[in-house]
Amino acid sequence: METSTTRATPRPHAEPGPASPPEPATEQLARRAAQPLSRRSLLVSAGAGAGALVVAACSGGGGGAGTSGGTGGSSATSAAPSGTVVTPTGDVPVGGAVSVQVDGAPYLVTQPEEGTFEAFSAICTHQGCTVAPGDGELDCPCHGSRFDLSTGDVLAGPAPTPLPRLAVTVSGSDVVTA
Ligand code: FES
Repeated sequence: METSTTRATPRPHAEPGPASPPEPATEQLARRAAQPLSRRSLLVSAGAGAGALVVAACSGGGGGAGTSGGTGGSSATSAAPSGTVVTPTGDVPVGGAVSVQVDGAPYLVTQPEEGTFEAFSAICTHQGCTVAPGDGELDCPCHGSRFDLSTGDVLAGPAPTPLPRLAVTVSGSDVVTA
């Protein structure tokens, strides 16, 4: 009558939990908290990467010599009809620029070389401040972007893309829309 009493262990169900119960819960919470953060930071950097791609795509042709012809910049559109006087040629300094309004929108007319006139939208491609004539370049007063007089290309950021070009020509003594 020996009862080889196998006394039931007081905790038959204690086995499944060798890893102490309170720890995993907190660990899981910690991991779950950490995962979304890392995903968020991935998304943030992916966003930055996408921005960089946009920059690269928009300035794709300008990676070379950086002077005339390298402009991949878009064209500024103006509601002003062709032949609209933008400014007298005499108002545009050689190697400089003048601020003008065309159909109520700000533009910059430049004369990189004597007799060569270009025009660009003065709306900064960074955050829309009005770009102004600078010392041999075009300067944005807000965050320091600098643009090329001849091409509107970005010389220094943070502007991501060149200033859109407005097609102009010379008619008599005036710069006019083309
Ligand atoms: Fe021109 Fe920021 S708005 S540099």
